[in-house]
Amino acid sequence: MALNAFLYKIFRAPASRNNNNIKVQLGPGKNNYLTGWINLDSNLFTAKIDVWANISSTLPFRDESVDIYYSHHVIEHLEELDLHFREMFRTLKKGGKIRVGGPNGDSAIAKFVENDLAWFPDFPDKKASIGGRFENFVFCRKEHLTILTRSYLEEIAFNAGFQNIRFCLPIKETNFPEDIDNVVLQKEWESDFDFPHTIIIEAEKSL
Ligand SMILES: C[S@@+](CC[C@H](N)C(=O)[O-])C[C@H]1O[C@@H](n2cnc3c(N)ncnc32)[C@H](O)[C@@H]1O
Repeated sequence: MALNAFLYKIFRAPASRNNNNIKVQLGPGKNNYLTGWINLDSNLFTAKIDVWANISSTLPFRDESVDIYYSHHVIEHLEELDLHFREMFRTLKKGGKIRVGGPNGDSAIAKFVENDLAWFPDFPDKKASIGGRFENFVFCRKEHLTILTRSYLEEIAFNAGFQNIRFCLPIKETNFPEDIDNVVLQKEWESDFDFPHTIIIEAEKSL
Protein backbone atom coordinates (compact mmCIF):
# COMPACT_ATOMS: atom_id res chain seq x y z
CA MET A 1 0.00 0.00 0.00
CA ALA A 2 2.84 2.41 0.83
CA LEU A 3 4.45 1.72 -2.55
CA ASN A 4 1.12 2.25 -4.29
CA ALA A 5 0.68 5.62 -2.56
CA PHE A 6 4.26 6.60 -3.40
CA LEU A 7 3.80 5.72 -7.09
CA TYR A 8 0.46 7.53 -7.17
CA LYS A 9 2.06 10.68 -5.80
CA ILE A 10 4.93 10.54 -8.31
CA PHE A 11 3.02 9.58 -11.48
CA ARG A 12 -0.69 10.26 -11.13
CA ALA A 13 -1.40 12.84 -8.46
CA PRO A 14 -2.51 16.25 -9.73
CA ALA A 15 0.31 18.74 -10.35
CA SER A 16 0.98 21.54 -7.91
CA ARG A 17 -0.96 24.74 -8.55
CA ASN A 18 -2.98 23.12 -11.36
CA ASN A 19 -6.03 24.97 -12.67
CA ASN A 20 -8.49 22.12 -12.17
CA ASN A 21 -10.92 21.88 -9.26
CA ILE A 22 -9.37 18.96 -7.38
CA LYS A 23 -11.71 17.53 -4.73
CA VAL A 24 -10.51 14.70 -2.50
CA GLN A 25 -12.61 12.51 -0.22
CA LEU A 26 -10.64 10.61 2.43
CA GLY A 27 -12.14 7.34 3.72
CA PRO A 28 -15.34 6.99 1.66
CA GLY A 29 -15.86 3.40 2.75
CA LYS A 30 -18.34 1.20 0.94
CA ASN A 31 -21.27 3.55 0.36
CA ASN A 32 -19.95 7.09 0.17
CA TYR A 33 -18.08 7.14 -3.17
CA LEU A 34 -18.43 10.61 -4.70
CA THR A 35 -18.36 10.99 -8.47
CA GLY A 36 -16.11 13.86 -9.55
CA TRP A 37 -13.95 13.49 -6.44
CA ILE A 38 -10.72 11.54 -5.89
CA ASN A 39 -11.85 8.93 -3.34
CA LEU A 40 -9.02 7.51 -1.22
CA ASP A 41 -9.22 4.71 1.35
CA SER A 42 -6.88 2.17 2.95
CA ASN A 43 -9.34 -0.70 2.65
CA LEU A 44 -9.17 -2.14 -0.84
CA PHE A 45 -11.84 -4.76 -0.13
CA THR A 46 -14.64 -2.93 1.66
CA ALA A 47 -14.30 0.54 0.14
CA LYS A 48 -15.05 1.81 -3.36
CA ILE A 49 -12.02 3.93 -4.20
CA ASP A 50 -9.84 5.64 -6.80
CA VAL A 51 -6.65 5.64 -4.71
CA TRP A 52 -5.47 2.99 -2.27
CA ALA A 53 -3.42 4.61 0.48
CA ASN A 54 -2.99 4.87 4.22
CA ILE A 55 -3.41 8.45 5.43
CA SER A 56 -2.13 7.85 8.95
CA SER A 57 1.11 9.67 8.15
CA THR A 58 1.52 11.65 4.92
CA LEU A 59 -1.01 12.27 2.16
CA PRO A 60 -0.08 11.13 -1.37
CA PHE A 61 -0.59 14.56 -2.92
CA ARG A 62 1.80 17.28 -3.99
CA ASP A 63 2.15 20.67 -2.29
CA GLU A 64 -0.67 23.09 -3.15
CA SER A 65 -2.47 20.70 -5.51
CA VAL A 66 -5.90 20.09 -3.89
CA ASP A 67 -8.88 22.47 -3.68
CA ILE A 68 -10.95 20.73 -1.00
CA TYR A 69 -10.73 17.77 1.37
CA TYR A 70 -13.81 16.05 2.72
CA SER A 71 -13.86 13.26 5.28
CA HIS A 72 -16.72 11.88 7.37
CA HIS A 73 -16.08 9.59 10.35
CA VAL A 74 -12.45 8.90 9.43
CA ILE A 75 -10.04 11.08 11.45
CA GLU A 76 -10.96 9.43 14.76
CA HIS A 77 -9.14 6.36 13.36
CA LEU A 78 -5.86 8.29 12.99
CA GLU A 79 -3.03 8.38 15.52
CA GLU A 80 -1.53 11.70 14.51
CA LEU A 81 -4.28 14.27 14.11
CA ASP A 82 -1.87 17.22 14.16
CA LEU A 83 0.15 15.67 11.36
CA HIS A 84 -3.01 14.91 9.37
CA PHE A 85 -4.20 18.53 9.51
CA ARG A 86 -0.70 19.76 8.61
CA GLU A 87 -0.70 17.39 5.63
CA MET A 88 -4.06 18.66 4.43
CA PHE A 89 -2.76 22.21 4.81
CA ARG A 90 0.46 21.43 2.89
CA THR A 91 -1.34 19.85 -0.04
CA LEU A 92 -4.16 22.42 -0.30
CA LYS A 93 -3.87 25.27 -2.76
CA LYS A 94 -4.10 28.76 -1.31
CA GLY A 95 -7.81 29.35 -0.73
CA GLY A 96 -8.33 25.59 -0.30
CA LYS A 97 -10.93 24.20 2.10
CA ILE A 98 -11.66 21.31 4.42
CA ARG A 99 -14.86 19.76 5.77
CA VAL A 100 -14.07 17.07 8.34
CA GLY A 101 -16.54 15.22 10.55
CA GLY A 102 -16.45 12.50 13.19
CA PRO A 103 -18.08 11.33 16.46
CA ASN A 104 -19.12 14.33 18.54
CA GLY A 105 -17.35 14.15 21.90
CA ASP A 106 -19.04 17.29 23.24
CA SER A 107 -22.53 15.88 22.61
CA ALA A 108 -21.56 12.48 24.03
CA ILE A 109 -20.23 14.04 27.25
CA ALA A 110 -23.39 16.16 27.66
CA LYS A 111 -25.64 13.15 27.08
CA PHE A 112 -23.58 11.00 29.44
CA VAL A 113 -23.98 13.61 32.20
CA GLU A 114 -27.72 13.83 31.42
CA ASN A 115 -27.95 10.01 31.59
CA ASP A 116 -29.72 10.06 28.21
CA LEU A 117 -29.42 6.38 27.25
CA ALA A 118 -31.57 6.83 24.15
CA TRP A 119 -29.14 9.30 22.53
CA PHE A 120 -26.43 6.64 22.19
CA PRO A 121 -26.62 4.30 19.19
CA ASP A 122 -26.29 0.51 19.55
CA PHE A 123 -23.34 0.50 17.13
CA PRO A 124 -21.03 -1.41 17.20
CA ASP A 125 -22.25 -3.16 20.39
CA LYS A 126 -25.42 -3.13 22.43
CA LYS A 127 -24.73 -1.82 25.95
CA ALA A 128 -27.28 -1.29 28.72
CA SER A 129 -25.47 1.17 30.99
CA ILE A 130 -24.79 4.83 30.26
CA GLY A 131 -21.07 4.21 30.83
CA GLY A 132 -21.08 1.26 28.45
CA ARG A 133 -22.90 3.28 25.79
CA PHE A 134 -20.50 6.20 26.23
CA GLU A 135 -17.47 3.92 25.85
CA ASN A 136 -19.07 2.21 22.84
CA PHE A 137 -19.66 5.56 21.11
CA VAL A 138 -16.27 7.06 21.87
CA PHE A 139 -13.96 4.09 21.29
CA CYS A 140 -15.98 1.86 18.93
CA ARG A 141 -14.36 -1.48 19.85
CA LYS A 142 -10.99 0.31 20.09
CA GLU A 143 -11.13 1.37 16.43
CA HIS A 144 -11.27 5.03 17.49
CA LEU A 145 -8.08 6.48 18.85
CA THR A 146 -9.22 9.90 20.01
CA ILE A 147 -12.20 11.91 21.22
CA LEU A 148 -13.21 14.79 18.95
CA THR A 149 -14.38 17.96 20.67
CA ARG A 150 -14.88 21.46 19.37
CA SER A 151 -12.00 23.05 21.26
CA TYR A 152 -9.56 20.27 20.37
CA LEU A 153 -10.38 20.34 16.66
CA GLU A 154 -10.18 24.13 16.66
CA GLU A 155 -6.74 23.99 18.30
CA ILE A 156 -5.43 21.41 15.82
CA ALA A 157 -6.78 23.28 12.78
CA PHE A 158 -5.44 26.61 14.03
CA ASN A 159 -2.00 25.17 14.78
CA ALA A 160 -1.87 23.65 11.27
CA GLY A 161 -2.39 27.12 9.81
CA PHE A 162 -6.10 27.08 8.93
CA GLN A 163 -8.27 30.18 9.12
CA ASN A 164 -12.02 30.83 9.09
CA ILE A 165 -12.54 27.82 11.34
CA ARG A 166 -16.25 27.12 11.78
CA PHE A 167 -18.46 24.28 13.00
CA CYS A 168 -21.48 23.11 10.99
CA LEU A 169 -24.45 20.86 11.47
CA PRO A 170 -24.35 17.61 9.49
CA ILE A 171 -26.60 17.48 6.40
CA LYS A 172 -27.94 21.03 6.90
CA GLU A 173 -24.99 23.44 6.94
CA THR A 174 -21.90 24.23 4.93
CA ASN A 175 -19.87 27.31 4.09
CA PHE A 176 -18.82 25.75 0.78
CA PRO A 177 -22.06 24.95 -1.10
CA GLU A 178 -20.32 24.99 -4.50
CA ASP A 179 -18.34 21.84 -3.52
CA ILE A 180 -20.32 20.43 -0.58
CA ASP A 181 -23.53 20.12 -2.55
CA ASN A 182 -26.64 18.09 -1.75
CA VAL A 183 -25.07 14.90 -3.06
CA VAL A 184 -22.38 15.18 -0.38
CA LEU A 185 -24.68 16.41 2.38
CA GLN A 186 -27.26 13.68 1.79
CA LYS A 187 -24.65 11.00 2.50
CA GLU A 188 -24.22 12.34 6.03
CA TRP A 189 -26.56 11.16 8.76
CA GLU A 190 -27.97 12.81 11.87
CA SER A 191 -31.04 12.34 14.06
CA ASP A 192 -30.42 15.04 16.70
CA PHE A 193 -29.67 18.58 15.52
CA ASP A 194 -29.55 19.96 19.09
CA PHE A 195 -26.92 17.44 20.19
CA PRO A 196 -25.50 16.15 16.89
CA HIS A 197 -23.80 12.76 16.90
CA THR A 198 -21.32 14.10 14.34
CA ILE A 199 -19.07 17.12 14.88
CA ILE A 200 -18.13 18.86 11.63
CA ILE A 201 -15.36 21.40 11.25
CA GLU A 202 -14.84 23.53 8.15
CA ALA A 203 -11.80 25.74 7.59
CA GLU A 204 -9.77 27.45 4.88
CA LYS A 205 -6.18 28.01 3.87
CA SER A 206 -5.84 31.73 3.29
CA LEU A 207 -5.10 33.13 -0.18
C1 LIG B 1 -16.28 4.51 9.67
S1 LIG B 1 -15.80 4.40 7.99
C2 LIG B 1 -16.58 5.87 7.34
C3 LIG B 1 -16.99 5.68 5.92
C4 LIG B 1 -17.75 6.88 5.31
N1 LIG B 1 -16.91 8.04 5.23
C5 LIG B 1 -19.01 7.17 6.07
O1 LIG B 1 -19.16 8.27 6.59
O2 LIG B 1 -19.86 6.27 6.15
C6 LIG B 1 -14.08 4.85 8.05
C7 LIG B 1 -13.36 4.70 6.71
O3 LIG B 1 -12.07 5.29 6.84
C8 LIG B 1 -11.11 4.40 6.31
N2 LIG B 1 -9.84 4.61 7.03
C9 LIG B 1 -9.63 4.44 8.35
N3 LIG B 1 -8.33 4.67 8.65
C10 LIG B 1 -7.72 4.99 7.47
C11 LIG B 1 -6.38 5.30 7.12
N4 LIG B 1 -5.39 5.33 8.04
N5 LIG B 1 -6.10 5.57 5.82
C12 LIG B 1 -7.08 5.55 4.88
N6 LIG B 1 -8.38 5.24 5.15
C13 LIG B 1 -8.69 4.96 6.43
C14 LIG B 1 -11.69 3.01 6.54
O4 LIG B 1 -11.12 2.05 5.68
C15 LIG B 1 -13.16 3.25 6.29
O5 LIG B 1 -13.51 3.07 4.95
